[in-house]
Amino acid sequence: MSNSAKLSTHGDDYDYPVLSGSVGPDVIDIRKLYAQTGQFTFDPGFTSTASCESAITYIDGDEGVLLHRGYPIGQLAEHSSFMETSYLLLNGELPDKDQLGDFTRTITRHTMLHEQLATFYRGFRRDAHPMAIMCGVVGALSAFYHDSTDIADPVHRRISSHRLIAKMPTIAAMAYKYSVGQPFVYPDNSLSYTGNFLRMTFGVPAEKYEVNPVVERALDRIFILHADHEQNASTSTVRLAGSSGANPFACIAAGIACLWGPAHGGANEAALNMLHEIGTPDRIPHFIERAKDKNDPFRLMGFGHRVYKNYDPRATVMQQTVREVFAALKVSDPVFEVALQLEEMALNDPYFIEKKLFPNVDFYSGVILSAIGFPTTMFTALFALARTVGWVAQWNEMISDPAQKIGRPRQLYTGHTERNYVPLDKR
Ligand code: ACO
Repeated sequence: MSNSAKLSTHGDDYDYPVLSGSVGPDVIDIRKLYAQTGQFTFDPGFTSTASCESAITYIDGDEGVLLHRGYPIGQLAEHSSFMETSYLLLNGELPDKDQLGDFTRTITRHTMLHEQLATFYRGFRRDAHPMAIMCGVVGALSAFYHDSTDIADPVHRRISSHRLIAKMPTIAAMAYKYSVGQPFVYPDNSLSYTGNFLRMTFGVPAEKYEVNPVVERALDRIFILHADHEQNASTSTVRLAGSSGANPFACIAAGIACLWGPAHGGANEAALNMLHEIGTPDRIPHFIERAKDKNDPFRLMGFGHRVYKNYDPRATVMQQTVREVFAALKVSDPVFEVALQLEEMALNDPYFIEKKLFPNVDFYSGVILSAIGFPTTMFTALFALARTVGWVAQWNEMISDPAQKIGRPRQLYTGHTERNYVPLDKR
C-alpha cells in the first residue's frame, strides 16, 4: 500500500505522507499543504478531517464498534463501573484493586462544592434550564479553585480533572434541587459515585434515603455509556477551547454549552418529547412520513449519527437496561412500546435503510431516565455529568501532546473584496 498521497494543483505535484493508526482509516498528513501550495482544504463539519492524534477511544461506525482504550463498550457496560471506566479513560489501563480504591477515595473526597457556590445558584431564575445553570456554575469553578489552574503543571491538571469528575454530580443535583425549590443535599461519601448522586437528587433532609441498587446500577451503566465518544462536537469544543491555554473549568463549561444542542446531547430530551408527542403506536406512520418529507424540518430524534452507519452499540445496551429497570421497579411506560415499534418500523423503511439511520444512544436513554424519576430537562445535564471524564481525559491528552498547537481553522472567503467606506449621508 502506498504510504504517500499525490496531489496535483496549479500544474505542480506534491507528495503527502499517509499515516496509519493502530486501527481505522489512514490519514493524509496535510500539515505542510498551505505552506507548499498556498491552498487550504475545505471540510465544513469536519466530515473528512482528523483533528488530532488520540489513544483514548476508537469507533468503527460501519461495524457499530466502540472501544475505550481497546475495551468494547458492551463489556465495560456489563462488567465495569463508572469509577473504573473513568480510571481507564484517564490513565489508559484498567486499575488493580488498590488503584481503584485510591482513585474512588480521591474522587469521593472532592464531591463537596465551595460553600459560596450555593449563593451563585440563587442568582438563577427557578425555571432556569439545568444546562444553563451547569454552564454558569462549571465556568465559575475557575473562580473558586485557582490552585489547580496552572495547565503546565501535571499535578494541577490531575487535581482539576478529579475535581471536575467529583463535583459534577453535586452541581447537577443542586441544579435540580434549585428548580424544584427543595434544599440542597450535601454529598454522603459513604455512598458510591452514582448512589450519592441519586441521594443528592431525590433525597430530602427530612427523610432517610435508601439507594435502590437496581436503579444505582442502571444509572452507573448509563454513565459508562456516555463517558467518552472520540472527537464529537463537545469534545472537539473542549479541545479547541483548551488549545488556547484556557483553564480546564472554562474548557469544560464550553463543552457543556456545545453538548446542550438538540443535534448532540440535547437529543435525549428531544427524543422523549417526540415519543410523548407520538403518544400511541397508530400515530407512528404519520411521524415517519414527516421525517422523510424534505419540506418538513421534523427528524426522528435519537435516530442517525455522524459516525455510526450501523446500530449504535450503546443503544443496544440502553434498550436492555430499560427492560431490566422496568422489571425491577415493576413499572411500564407506554412510550417504551412506542419507541420499540417506531424503531422496528423505521428500520424496515427504505428511507432509513438507504441513509443508514439507526437508533443512537439517545433513543432509549430518555425512557429509562424518566422511569427513574428525572424530568426531561435533566437528561442532558446527566449526559454532561458522565461525559466530563471523557472531556478531561481528552483535554489532558491534548495538553501533554508535544505537537499541540492552538486550533485555528481557515475559511473559504466569499464576502466583499476590499471597498471604500461610504459616509452615512452618501448611502
Ligand atoms: N430523521 C430523518 N432523516 C434524517 C435523520 C433523522 N433523525 N438523520 C439524518 N437524516 C437524513 C438527512 O435528512 C439527510 O438526508 P439527505 O441526504 O437526503 O439530505 C441524511 O439523513 C444525512 O443526514 P445529515 O444531517 O447530513 O447527517 P449528519 O451526519 O450531519 O447528522 C445527526 C447526524 C445530527 C445526528 C442527524 O442524524 C440528526 O439530526 N439526528 C437526530 C438528532 C439526534 O438524534 N442527535 C443525537 C446524535 S448522538 C449524540 O450526540 C449523543
